[in-house]
Amino acid sequence: MARIAFVNGRYAPLSESMVNIEDRGYQFSDGIYEVIALVDGCLVDETPHLDRLWRSLSELKISEPLSRPALKLIIREVLRRNYIYDGIVYIQVTRGVAPRDHAFPQEAKPSVVIYAKRKPLKKLLQKAKTGVHVITVPDQRWQRCDIKTISLLPNCLGKQQAVEQGAYEAWQIDQQGYVTEGTSSNAWIVTAQGVLVTCPASQNILRGITRDRILALAQSCGLGYEERLFTLEEAYQAREAMVSSATSLAMPVIKIDDHMVGNGHPGDFASVLLEAYCLYMKEKSVPVPGLRRS
Ligand SMILES: Cc1ncc(COP(=O)(O)O)c(C=O)c1O
Repeated sequence: MARIAFVNGRYAPLSESMVNIEDRGYQFSDGIYEVIALVDGCLVDETPHLDRLWRSLSELKISEPLSRPALKLIIREVLRRNYIYDGIVYIQVTRGVAPRDHAFPQEAKPSVVIYAKRKPLKKLLQKAKTGVHVITVPDQRWQRCDIKTISLLPNCLGKQQAVEQGAYEAWQIDQQGYVTEGTSSNAWIVTAQGVLVTCPASQNILRGITRDRILALAQSCGLGYEERLFTLEEAYQAREAMVSSATSLAMPVIKIDDHMVGNGHPGDFASVLLEAYCLYMKEKSVPVPGLRRS
């Protein structure tokens, strides 16, 4: 069955979906994106994801491509047309098509691409039972990592290094030796004293929607947490570690570089938070009408 994408007002099979070679996303990475998880036919935290999409547009002065209700309708239609029940929806907006010139075009209509793919939650939960390995790489990115831009080359280089070393993710380390975040996830540790720690929201990290949800869940579960910088040295000594994102949920980390984290098994904080997150998704997400388990 061909996958269907929405591209600039048209639904078409992926193989027939085209963008103009002078799209500024293609030539300059001049665009932004969002990824929203669909679990059991429900979009997880759609509202904060769309809030962040609007914020990214505004930070890059890209005009609003569609009204929010229209975007929500299209997201749902893409999910229905692709018969997706567990997976992700990808939304990308670029500044649009214009003759190649670094400065913004006087008039450009933003380009919108929305497509979706299956991603079974079961596999992810299986992985969470054993935990994953992360490596570390220098943080080589720009100074506006808070914007979810499609400009992801340093992230791709880091992730590729992780893949080549058999790891799940690469944690990026800034010039002062602090862990900023993963290439596509936020980074967490639990200190020897039992405090959950993640990097504060700033221009140095993408403020993950999952990160914020986990902080709220930590609070409601009575777990102590701090939003502060932590060094790689501190991470090596941590009792537990974790990564979070819409597609990794709260994934326990059992090895950082060659250092075993804790006893080398997913710890209590990670287990409690993953369970709380799964419960949150189940209880608080609203079903998309017309989706059926496939
Ligand atoms: C660099 C980076 N940090 C953090 C995240 C996690 O964000 P979220 O929880 O909103 O998926 C992502 C997700 O793509 C990311 O690319």
